[in-house]
This record gives sequence, structure tokens and C-alpha cells, in this order.
Amino acid sequence: MNIKTIPTQPFADQKPGTSGLRKKVPVFQQPNYLENFVQAIFDSLEGYQGQTLVVGGDGRYYNRQAIQIILKMAAANGFGRVLVGRGGILSTPAASCVIRKNQAFGGIILSASHNPGGPTEDFGIKYNIGNGGPAPEKVTEAIFAQSKSISSYKLLEASDVDLDKVGSFKLGEMAVEVIDSVNDYAQLMESLFDFDRIRELLTNGRFRMCMDSMHAVTGPYARRLFEQRLGAPLGTVMNGEPLEDFGRGHPDPNLVYAHDLVEILFGNDAPDFGAASDGDGDRNMILGRQFFVTPSDSLAVLAANATLAPAYRDGLAGIARSMPTSQAADRVAEKLGIDCYETPTGWKFFGNLLDAGKATLCGEESFGTGSNHVREKDGLWAVLFWLNVVAARQQSVEAIVKEHWQTYGRNYYSRHDYEGVESDRANSLVAALHEQMPSLKGKQFGSYTVDYCDDFSYTDPVDGSVSKNQGIRIGFTDGSRIVFRLSGTGTQGATVRVYLESYEPNAANHGLDPQVALKDLISIAEEVAQIRHFTAMNQPTVIT
Ligand code: G1P
Ligand code: ZN
Repeated sequence: MNIKTIPTQPFADQKPGTSGLRKKVPVFQQPNYLENFVQAIFDSLEGYQGQTLVVGGDGRYYNRQAIQIILKMAAANGFGRVLVGRGGILSTPAASCVIRKNQAFGGIILSASHNPGGPTEDFGIKYNIGNGGPAPEKVTEAIFAQSKSISSYKLLEASDVDLDKVGSFKLGEMAVEVIDSVNDYAQLMESLFDFDRIRELLTNGRFRMCMDSMHAVTGPYARRLFEQRLGAPLGTVMNGEPLEDFGRGHPDPNLVYAHDLVEILFGNDAPDFGAASDGDGDRNMILGRQFFVTPSDSLAVLAANATLAPAYRDGLAGIARSMPTSQAADRVAEKLGIDCYETPTGWKFFGNLLDAGKATLCGEESFGTGSNHVREKDGLWAVLFWLNVVAARQQSVEAIVKEHWQTYGRNYYSRHDYEGVESDRANSLVAALHEQMPSLKGKQFGSYTVDYCDDFSYTDPVDGSVSKNQGIRIGFTDGSRIVFRLSGTGTQGATVRVYLESYEPNAANHGLDPQVALKDLISIAEEVAQIRHFTAMNQPTVIT
């Protein structure tokens, strides 16, 4: 066995963001760039000798090459076994499921989520811990610290593993098991939801659904679940072939990028139900016939209807949402008499709450919903959950959401993104907001009065860790909010995100376009933050 220790120099820019390290493919292709980061992960861990590591990715360009490198490094560093998805494919929630099911030490997930893929597009890598969830901040900080002082990495000299054949192989002393990417995950889904009822819905000849996998990782999962296990007609899953460049698309399931699906669901003779998922399968978008469900509402509706799904029959322990996510879920929690936690943006902050049994359902406004079944958000899980609710209630998506608003009131919500802003400009916008913060309380904007203004800080109720500077919040006395934060997942320049929310209790006023309902808040955001001035843009690049 030939283990080589290869000298290297640190790269200064390997700080993990909201969800791992994301860079353009050519950055990762620089000699030693990926190797350094992987070694930094291993060097920040203790006790993994002889243990199991799970490796897989969303199939984007460079996935296979990266996996071969990681396998040889895992072998050289003393892992006992690596489980890798066939073809190098594991959706992010499936990777979480496989880590948990096999009591692995941890996992490496290769993905840049919803960012485009291809030779000049994005690539990413993140480490998940033994609970199946993204490494918490103290781990990502340790990885970053290692990356700054690294001087060598270990690599086994060996030929590549055949990733396309399910089976067991030896790589030096280490076992490599190429596993079916879908099995464990599909089994888990079947244990959570009422598959008989969903099958009845999908085969009754009246209900039609359409699932857009956006040429990304969920294609094989969705086909197995909807078309094979649940009997939906072939063709229910569209864009189901994972491609290295996602068919040159932008695999982000929202109204802008999932346009194939949106055209179908908002067209003539539209099906009853539409859904899409992102590059690595953790995001979801839910559509009814000519109806869009905002992710914040989706979380609230699922929470309110949770007992219809077998897995949540006995009720929820609590709900958690990221800070910028609308407060619709809070109202459900209040009615159910359970806690609702407000965490910083990023799934890693839900891990402790789920592990401690404080929360059962979690969600983010960014098309992410999930539960304690894994430790990642889970796109297809959300789709199945919705189908379970629709099947049990025998109502349309639109009717379910409208009834929900009648009961709880409607939280109008929208996020305005300004992408590709020069970093200096974005930082100046934030700095200017910080300067105003102390003077905003009590200030009047039309009919709105500022109740509080702060930079969100979170103290984890389980381990007491504190995360500061998680986004500037301006709260108004009527419960409306504007939140500003910079994206932590981009690979070029900065993205300014502006989150807008207002509450409307009266059902007679629930029919507005959110951009109209939120127009006062949109102008207050501009007035306070001078967005046009700082970004040099006249309008957002994406509105969701
Ligand atoms: C974005 C979303 C966030 C999500 C993350 C990973 O992060 O806003 O909710 O957890 O992607 O999917 P951001 O770019 O805002 O840092
Ligand atoms: Zn994703």
C-alpha cells in the first residue's frame, strides 16, 4: 500500500459559508485546492480511524473527479469504510439518511445546491457530522483554521474505483461500498407517509401531478417514488435525468428558474399539483393549479396538518424557522401550544433542536422544509407530505392554503434579491444600516412605526453557543418586518437579500398580489437602506 504525504501550501479563502465551501469549478481544479480542504476536514476531526464515511454529491460537473480524490484521501487517512452512492450520486437528504442509518462517523457532500453547474460554474463541498446534519459552526471554524495552516495532505496511490457498479471494493485497507443511491431514502419515505392513500390519489384518474427534477439529483429518487412505488404515470417526473450542467439550467425551484413547471401549472388544462426540487434535492417548491405556495406558508400548513401523516400522528414537539422566514408558523405553534424557535439562516442551526427533541418540523423561506427524519432539509419529503395532506383532505392545494389563511390570517411575504453586487457596495449598504440602527426605534414611516431594530443574534438553547450578526431586522409595531442580510452561499460578488413581511388577519383582504400588499414596506426598505444607490441597481434580480 502506497500512502503518500504530499507537501502543500494553504489557500486563504477556504472559509465555509452558509452551507460549506462553494467556489467556481476552476478554483477547485487548482492543484491541491480540493485536497487541502478535505485534509483540513479530516485534521479537524478526532476518532474517525476505522470508522465509516459517507460520500456523494449532486452529480454536477467535477463530482466524479472529486469523489475519486476523496476516496483515496479517506483511505490514506485511516477511515475503515466509505459508502458512496452509485455514480457518485447522493441527494443531500439521502446522504443524511445514509449517515444516520449506518451510524457513520460523518459524510462529505459535494454540491453547490441550487447554483448552476458546469466547467466554469459552481462546485461545493461540505462536511456533515454523525447525526447526519451539516457541521455546526464550531466544526466549520476548526476546518477553516486547519486550512490556514495546512502543510501536507495524505493520498493513497491507487487506481480509480468503478463508481457505476454497486458492490464492495478495497482501496488499500479501506472498504469502499458503492450503494444504490435511492434504496435507503425511499424506504425511509415509505415509513413516514401514507403511501396507500397517496397511491390512491395518484391513480384515481382524476388527480394529476407534475414533478420537475430540473435535470438535477432527484430524478432517480422521484421516478422510483412517484412512478414506481406510487403508481403515477410515466412522465410524471420531468427533467429527470441528472446532468452535469443541469441542462444549462439554474436548478433552483422558484417561480423564476423552474419556468418549465410554472408554465405547465399556470397554463391551460393545468394539473392539480406541481413540485420542483433543486440541484442537490434539499429544496422544494409546491404549486397547486395556478397557485403558488410560499415556502413560509408551506411550513405553516404542514405543521397545522402534520397529524395527517403517520410519522407525525402524535403531534409535533415544536417548530423551528430561520429568522427571515415569515411568522406564519409561529401562529400555528401558538395554537398547538408548542414552542416555535427562531434560528439564523442555514440548516445547521436546526440540528441541535432536532437532536434534543425540541423541534419536529423546520423550515426556511428559501424553499427549505424538513423534519426530524433526517438532519437536512428535504425536497421530496415535502412533496410527499403535501400529497399526503391533499390525499387525506381531498381538497385542492389552493383550498387548503386559503382555509389556512382564514384560520390563522395571512402573512404576506416576499424576498427581493440583488445578485452580483460588488462586495464593497454591499458592505457599505450594511454599514450604513448599522449606523442608523440606534436611531430607528420609534421612527414613523407612513402608518408604520419602528418597534425594534437590531442585528439578529442567536443563542442556541441546547449548547449555549452564540451566533452574532445574522441579519438586520426592522420590526414594526403591527408585526410587519423588513430584514436585510448578505448571502453566504454565493461564489462571486455579493447578494443582498431583502425580506419583507406583513400580517393580514382579515380574510376579505387575502386576495392581493404580495408585491402590492407589501408595497409600503418595499418603499420603506428603499428609504432606509438606499438599496438603489448602494447596489447601483434599479430593481431586484430575483423576486420570490
Ligand atoms: C441560502 C438561503 C438559506 C439556505 C442556504 C442553503 O443561503 O438563504 O436559507 O439555508 O441558501 O440552501 P444564503 O445565500 O442566503 O446565505
Ligand atoms: Zn440545495
